[in-house]
Amino acid sequence: MDKRVYIRTYGCQMNERESESLAAILVGSGYEIANDEGAADIILLNTCSVREQAEAKAIGKSNLISRGKNREKIVGIIGCMAQNLADILPKKSPNARLIVGPNRIEKVPAYLDQLLRDSNRRIIDTEMGAIDPHFAAARDEKKVKTSMFVSIMQGCNMGCAYCIVPKTRGPERYRPMEEIVREVRWLAERGTKEVTLLGQIVNNYGANCMPYVNGKSPFVQLLEKIQQIDGIRRIRFLSPHPKGFKSDLIDAYQNLPKLCPQVHLPLQSGSDAVLRAMKRPYGGEQFLAIVGALREKVPTIALSTDIIVGFPGETEADFEKTCDFFDEVKFDMAFIFKYSVRPRTAAARLGDQIPREVKEARNQILLERVERYSRRYNELMVGEAKEVLVESWAKRGPRRLEGFTPERKKVIFAGTEDCIGQTVDILIESCTTSTLFGRIV
Ligand code: SAH
Ligand code: SF4
Ligand code: F3S
Repeated sequence: MDKRVYIRTYGCQMNERESESLAAILVGSGYEIANDEGAADIILLNTCSVREQAEAKAIGKSNLISRGKNREKIVGIIGCMAQNLADILPKKSPNARLIVGPNRIEKVPAYLDQLLRDSNRRIIDTEMGAIDPHFAAARDEKKVKTSMFVSIMQGCNMGCAYCIVPKTRGPERYRPMEEIVREVRWLAERGTKEVTLLGQIVNNYGANCMPYVNGKSPFVQLLEKIQQIDGIRRIRFLSPHPKGFKSDLIDAYQNLPKLCPQVHLPLQSGSDAVLRAMKRPYGGEQFLAIVGALREKVPTIALSTDIIVGFPGETEADFEKTCDFFDEVKFDMAFIFKYSVRPRTAAARLGDQIPREVKEARNQILLERVERYSRRYNELMVGEAKEVLVESWAKRGPRRLEGFTPERKKVIFAGTEDCIGQTVDILIESCTTSTLFGRIV
């Protein structure tokens, strides 16, 4: 059998980054990466467990593969769902011969070698060890782009009542600072201009084991080191937590010119009672204080968030508070999620589940607000010239390029190939809720 692998990625940016590393180490082990299922002999699904729907999608997909013309192929389920459902996956996805959690993906090439040798085997690995330094930094040189993700840590020590992530990814572990800096320098030497640092609570980087220096947390020290790297123009990170958003990080928005004026800060609910029930260790006042301090440093900073509607016990009054919070902060973007019960989390044991129709209605109400404020934020940019970092050709329309403002708003404009990877000044002429349109000035 040939050794062509197709990797399909579900879930968050961490999974995207890990699929990228996996592709690189597979190539290093003599495998080829296929761009579509049809051309592959092995199909790996890098999965997510954060909501029920994410799991249902991946299980459905794995069973679909086992039917049609792909029947002969090796199917592997890796990532968070492999970890979360390892005990039942052999029943639910009987054709999956490889089940590997997100903490052991570096073993996948060796496991595939074994499966190719022995067609009766199934391999399951859900060990939870230290971060493998080789895997964390693995990259295919040919796939280096203008904007890249860099994973700086693994796992989460919080116990948000609704969340499965601490169970799938384990406790917090950090990559050494020098390794991350070396990786970013390597990327910069190959043309990367923007890096997005990834972690479940990215600003908790180094929290339990690295010292503060001059009042600065390990995370801010890391930002300062990346600021020094030639070629890197923009630094972003995903996702910070309000808990560790202290003054050293807020000051960084003034002190570090490469740090982009954009923060994705998950709120989850505008009601203190719901936040308490969710076991989120902050209240609305604290969140507003962070927003106020950030806007004092950078008045036009882009602020986005995550919200869960319909957490058990969320009353109409609680939901109103979330809506009011939106009106007060005017997030320019938000992901609204309908609460999904995750077995074995603390919230799964709570009574008072919210009916599906109520969740749906609350979701719709918030989506309207998100749209209103996204449009408003974008409209304020019309007539302004913005520095756009050009990433690629736009998907639609000939000769049109796609890039992002420092606030990470997408801009589409007419241009030539040599703009890709460069920053250009674009006069913004019009917008929709999600995209800005303009021309080179
Ligand atoms: N570590 C990040 C969140 C990672 S999960 C943080 O703490 O901010 C991404 C988002 O999925 C969360 O912010 C939350 O809004 C949503 N989410 C997590 N568990 C969920 C569940 N059980 N139901 C619905 N949404 C959920
Ligand atoms: Fe999940 Fe909470 Fe950890 Fe985020 S901080 S990954 S929501 S447990
Ligand atoms: Fe999903 Fe795992 Fe990311 S559960 S959101 S893929 S950390």
